[in-house]
Amino acid sequence: MVMYLDGKAYFLDYRETAPAAADKDMYLDDEGNVIEGASTLGHLASGVPGSVAGLWAAHQRFGKLAWRDVVAPAIKLARDGYVVDAKQMIEFDYGAREFAGKTNFAKYFGDVQENQRLVQPELAETLQRIAARGRDGFYGGKTADMIVAEMARGNGLITLDDLENYQAKWRAPLRADWRGMEILAAPPPSSGGFAVIQLLKIKDLLAKDFEGVPLNSAQYVHLVAEIEKRVFADRAEYLGDPDYVDVPMERLLSDEYLKKRAREIDPEHIAELGDVSPGLESMETTHYSIVDFDGNAVSTTTTLNLSFGSGVVVEGAGFLLNNEMDDFSVKPGVPNAFGVVGNTANEIQPGKRMLSSMSPTIITKDGKVDFVSGTPGGSTIFTTVFQMIVDSYDFGMTATAAAGAPRFHHQLLQPDVVTYSPSVPLPEATISALSDRGYRAIPHSFDYGDVQTIRRIPGGWDAGTDPRGRGESRVIEQPDTLQGTTQ
Ligand code: DON
Repeated sequence: MVMYLDGKAYFLDYRETAPAAADKDMYLDDEGNVIEGASTLGHLASGVPGSVAGLWAAHQRFGKLAWRDVVAPAIKLARDGYVVDAKQMIEFDYGAREFAGKTNFAKYFGDVQENQRLVQPELAETLQRIAARGRDGFYGGKTADMIVAEMARGNGLITLDDLENYQAKWRAPLRADWRGMEILAAPPPSSGGFAVIQLLKIKDLLAKDFEGVPLNSAQYVHLVAEIEKRVFADRAEYLGDPDYVDVPMERLLSDEYLKKRAREIDPEHIAELGDVSPGLESMETTHYSIVDFDGNAVSTTTTLNLSFGSGVVVEGAGFLLNNEMDDFSVKPGVPNAFGVVGNTANEIQPGKRMLSSMSPTIITKDGKVDFVSGTPGGSTIFTTVFQMIVDSYDFGMTATAAAGAPRFHHQLLQPDVVTYSPSVPLPEATISALSDRGYRAIPHSFDYGDVQTIRRIPGGWDAGTDPRGRGESRVIEQPDTLQGTTQ
């Protein structure tokens, strides 16, 4: 969660952690091969949850309403239910197939039907415990006991100690000057902020190469893909939990280093894997963006990792557990569910946070919030946020137009593959021109991105939501009762 409140920037890290009993080889068989599905499905796939501790910490420090009142709408939704729409039904059908016979998913969600109300009474009770006891309603007492009992049913690792010891952490957000504005972004254990900043700055260093190049033309895709290649190479080598590894962030974002990276890029040719080294020597996530009447902003991305996490529901408590453990590098060079690789910086260690790509981002101009954005999408998150910023600032798109624009993605492996979101493809001419240049431009394996963006416009705010997702954006007129209290 990136925040900009009363002119000050904050970052709250409530990423999951590896349980104390986790081990760097925990997903490998006796021969050292990765056990298919072990880090994505079932009890072993869960990190120690962070969301409740995070929201509690944010509320403790900055909340204005009573905690109970803040949790109340969630209790109501769980107790009274909500109607499942077509897009979400596709997810439930996928979950039913994926987890059939492997987890207790069907017991909880097997009867879900499109246009029918989904009621979750156990979840309502869990939320009630959280409403009554705050953080302790989840990490202690009945809920914690139920999580531990659930772990026992499936050889999971999370213990009462793991739950009690979990801490959300206030960290300094990454800050970078960009065209006279300031970017506020997610620091490690997310790679998102690092990546958005590298992408934007290297693009500016290549301004001559980008001059006159139309948005989403083959040349544009090539230049951006080559930048993305370098970003993913650095991500794989250097990024990980800063409490466990020294991330050389200053060097990775220094002007000198970025200039060197920009110089490596050949505007004509696709770099092969062997030519791209880390640069220094030697489905479903949620994002919300908010600006309040006082001009304060919050940009938050939150996730179980894949759509229904590990597929395991804590029996009696009614909620799904994450499969964030797959975001660790389970073996050097072996891709995770999003096809990205890592090395020792992101290997599993007890208590360590797994590397993320989440990129909640705020841009300020002259000390005032100018732009707020973020999205789900796994490894496509930071390349999406980068394109949102560039489409808005370079190509003058409204928030809605940028959210709905075609987007593409490149992530080092494979060096000649560029993907685009299936429902809003790149122009045909770009796809065939890319193929002439030796690229394989293909639809991404999922319709990535559900961007929520807010941008300052003369006299107010412009808010845009990604048509690929289920979100909505609203600009609310300031009620009379609050008139005169703002900005
Ligand atoms: O933290 C990360 O980078 C991933 N766990 C995010 C997963 C995600 O966005 C899935 N949604 N499409």
